[in-house]
Amino acid sequence: MSYPNTSKRSKHEESEKGGEIDQEVAVSISEKPVIKVAAICGSLRKASYNRGLIRAAIELSKEQIEGLHVEYVETAALPMLNTDLEVDGKFPAEVEVFRQKILEADCCLFASPDYNYSVTPILKNALDWGSRPPNVWAGKTAAAISAVGGGRRAQYHLRQIGVFLDLHFINKPEFYMNAHRPPGKFNADGDLVDSETKDNLKEMLLSLQAFTLRLQGKG
Ligand SMILES: Cc1cc2nc3c(=O)[nH]c(=O)nc-3n(C[C@H](O)[C@H](O)[C@H](O)COP(=O)(O)O)c2cc1C
Repeated sequence: MSYPNTSKRSKHEESEKGGEIDQEVAVSISEKPVIKVAAICGSLRKASYNRGLIRAAIELSKEQIEGLHVEYVETAALPMLNTDLEVDGKFPAEVEVFRQKILEADCCLFASPDYNYSVTPILKNALDWGSRPPNVWAGKTAAAISAVGGGRRAQYHLRQIGVFLDLHFINKPEFYMNAHRPPGKFNADGDLVDSETKDNLKEMLLSLQAFTLRLQGKG
């Protein structure tokens, strides 16, 4: 879902008014559509590094990236997938809320740990609930990030799952890091404090934004 960005005026608008500001026109003209990102974490751990990356992405998008809104979408309350829980075409309430959040987003950011060379059951469960007809992932752009180097393997599996879900992943830049290896890049609260990693994350978010706008014919 895209929202008009009402905070800026176009050059055209300014020149037509001879430099004067017409407040009404200023709030109605859209310069850059806002891309809404649903951020999903594959870890339930309280001190999850991957969730720390999502918090950093939220902060970066707020402070440094115009036109990108990242929202964390909780998966902890989702029951383990069981189609018996689908009654009269309805999903359990927590699933309905989750699916609606995905439907409202333009794209998805998956923070994926590596569990035994693949995606975590938490993430797969969320992907599977979203895939139940009608598939809420269809046509969305996506990016994957990982707090551990092994996450690259999980990311390949995630991309493969994305083929059937009709998710369109950006190819570059890849984003992974080694959160467990010193020097520490997260503080005691699990917040990302390493500036180089933040720069890499920002590059990845900009790439996701550009790709999403391009796919939506707005870029
Ligand atoms: C069941 C399990 C399997 C794991 N398998 C791998 C693995 O194959 N490769 C790897 O690099 N790390 C593996 N790890 C380590 C996690 O990916 C790592 O601890 C990561 O930081 C967890 O993400 P989080 O910090 O967001 O919770 C595994 C962890 C668990 C609990």
